[in-house]
Amino acid sequence: MKLAPLLFGGITALVRAQTAAPYTDVKSGITFQAYQHTTGYFLGVALPENPTGNTDLIVTIGGKGTGWSGASLAGPMKNALLVLAWPNNNTIVSSFRKTNQYGSPPVPTGAFMQLPIANGTYTNTTHWTYTFVCSKCIQSDGTTFAANENTTVLGYALSSAAPSQKGNAASSVSKHSSQGQAAFDLVKARSKDFAMWKNWAAAPKVENAF
Ligand code: HEM
Ligand SMILES: *[C@@H]1O[C@H](CO)[C@@H](O)[C@H](O)[C@H]1NC(C)=O
Ligand SMILES: *[C@@H]1O[C@H](CO)[C@@H](O)[C@H](O)[C@H]1NC(C)=O
Ligand SMILES: *[C@@H]1O[C@H](CO)[C@@H](O)[C@H](O)[C@H]1NC(C)=O
Ligand SMILES: *[C@@H]1O[C@H](CO)[C@@H](O)[C@H](O)[C@H]1NC(C)=O
Repeated sequence: MKLAPLLFGGITALVRAQTAAPYTDVKSGITFQAYQHTTGYFLGVALPENPTGNTDLIVTIGGKGTGWSGASLAGPMKNALLVLAWPNNNTIVSSFRKTNQYGSPPVPTGAFMQLPIANGTYTNTTHWTYTFVCSKCIQSDGTTFAANENTTVLGYALSSAAPSQKGNAASSVSKHSSQGQAAFDLVKARSKDFAMWKNWAAAPKVENAF
């Protein structure tokens, strides 16, 4: 009777796959709470020790191959601040997106900015990685998690297909091949080193691409 052990293993793997865990990027040294998907996709967040009034977080997002990786800072796809990034010949192209319908989401306007962290942004032989300070990102209107939340659910979405215009940060994309939500312990995402890490970031990206 192998059924019971198989089922148990399957359920354990499923639970683990839907929950973020501590993760340190070796190239930047920044520690995140990160969700990892079997495709190589990952999404990590780091926050300051004191959440009161905070609007900023550090995000690391990446994957394997030439497709795109996306995240919802609220959990759902719709009516949320989305982050979308993909590799383009050893650079990373990225943008914010927002939509109220299921379909390729457009680039929104807003005060939020992506400030890249150089040594957390790279491609190696297996993955591409993009790390940035998400400045003025945390909102109180439900389009992101709230600053005072201790746990939350973030959305992930990825496609193995590259966007149609890889060099254009506003390119439309085809639908994700995998998507879902993962639980994040935001207390564990908080670090006394956040202010130091944040100072490593460069100026806002011109045209959302570099
Ligand atoms: C043409 C492009 C897209 C289409 C047609 C699309 C459509 C959909 C649909 C129909 C769902 C519901 C689950 C399902 O039935 O599969 C969904 C879920 C989701 N999508 Fe998209 N999507 C697109 C692009 C994106 C992008 C670029 C992102 C992120 C940057 C994203 C993030 C999500 C997330 C996080 C979910 C899971 C949470 C939820 O169900 O709302 N999607 N999408
Ligand atoms: C990443 O860069 C920052 C400065 O830009 C530096 O202080 C830090 O030590 C670097 N991380 C590693 C692991 O070398
Ligand atoms: C890709 O980048 C390399 C150097 O990093 C450059 O030599 C090459 O011309 C680029 N290719 C394209 C298509 O932009
Ligand atoms: C490439 O970078 C990813 C993300 O940081 C890391 O998980 C992976 O181990 C690295 N691969 C190699 C071969 O160094
Ligand atoms: C988060 O935890 C702190 C400390 O336990 C508590 O004071 C605060 O009310 C919690 N926040 C929420 C939104 O529940």
